[in-house]
Amino acid sequence: MLDLLYRLVRPLLFRLDAETAHELVFRGLPLVPWLARGLAPDPSLRVRIAGLDWGGPVGLAAGLDKNGVGIPAWAALGFGAIEVGTVTRHAQPGNPRPRLFRLPEEEGLINRMGFNNGGAVGLAANLGRLRNAGAWPSVPVGANLGKSKVTANEDAVEDYLHSVNVLRGKADYFVVNVSSPNTPGLRELQDKEPLARLLGAVVPAAQRTPVFLKLAPDLEDDALHDAVNVALEAGCAGIIATNTTISRPGTTGRLSQFGGLSGAPLRPLARQKIAAVLAAVGGKAPVIGVGGVSSAADAAEYLSMGCAAVQLYSSFIFRGPGLPSRIHAELASARRPPL
Ligand SMILES: Cc1cc2nc3c(=O)[nH]c(=O)nc-3n(C[C@H](O)[C@H](O)[C@H](O)COP(=O)(O)O)c2cc1C
Repeated sequence: MLDLLYRLVRPLLFRLDAETAHELVFRGLPLVPWLARGLAPDPSLRVRIAGLDWGGPVGLAAGLDKNGVGIPAWAALGFGAIEVGTVTRHAQPGNPRPRLFRLPEEEGLINRMGFNNGGAVGLAANLGRLRNAGAWPSVPVGANLGKSKVTANEDAVEDYLHSVNVLRGKADYFVVNVSSPNTPGLRELQDKEPLARLLGAVVPAAQRTPVFLKLAPDLEDDALHDAVNVALEAGCAGIIATNTTISRPGTTGRLSQFGGLSGAPLRPLARQKIAAVLAAVGGKAPVIGVGGVSSAADAAEYLSMGCAAVQLYSSFIFRGPGLPSRIHAELASARRPPL
């Protein structure tokens, strides 16, 4: 039903600027729980990650719902977990528009949003309202945290800590995002020393809430290795790999916008970097694989490599709202023994 609707409106949406289309779709989100029924993943697909029960191994990646305004809709569509954010300590407008671009033939996106968000306090209010209304979903909701643009890297620890303190007890897990390419200097926080300082403060401040570290696919394998070691030593619950890339693999190069590339063209690079992260982690913590997942085969490949779960964003835009439940259904039937 939703997929049919999407097939009808997609050509119209794709004629609009990508962010305008996004805003239009968000206006319809309150209707989704009424339209989407029976899309919850098969119970056989449940996975426990860092003490949290994912409904299935396909989660929503960060960035689609920065302020946590569509959580009941994402849950109704059958995502196994929902990551909201990135939020920053200070609400901020992000970069000037246009800042989100489609590559329809390649099923890729380029974005330089720059953490447009309503701030950690705004997200905490939205999550609090949901909890108080008894509308918290049955799947985990993570809060992805970044650094405010106005904050210098030297003051980054304070900035993240503020968000943790505001959101502790509201989100089911935290993600320390030091890997988005659109905040100047942010990715320098992936270096060993600043990362150790940051995680050494955030993990204890999060108390019982698990903290994941999200890494960029543009790091060399030895830098990924170092970052993973720092994260494990600091007590992180796991790693999320990967964010978008500033490189341009597999695209025609026709769209020469700067920003982070995601979707199908990212997949070969993400796959390679996920493998490097899995090797560095060595089974000591869960790894969540992200980057170009657009089918059950893609998800199954990351899972068979050793990922505990996967997340997706870009393919949802190209393939429609039925995608997470379709992938879950295919994964469940592939696991069922033949009659
Ligand atoms: C428009 C857009 C905005 C994004 N914003 C964020 C963000 O705020 N924080 C974050 O950690 N990742 C962000 N991402 C990255 C995604 O979470 C994901 O890591 C990346 O897109 C790769 O997955 P995909 O190929 O399935 O899209 C964003 C991606 C896109 C396309």
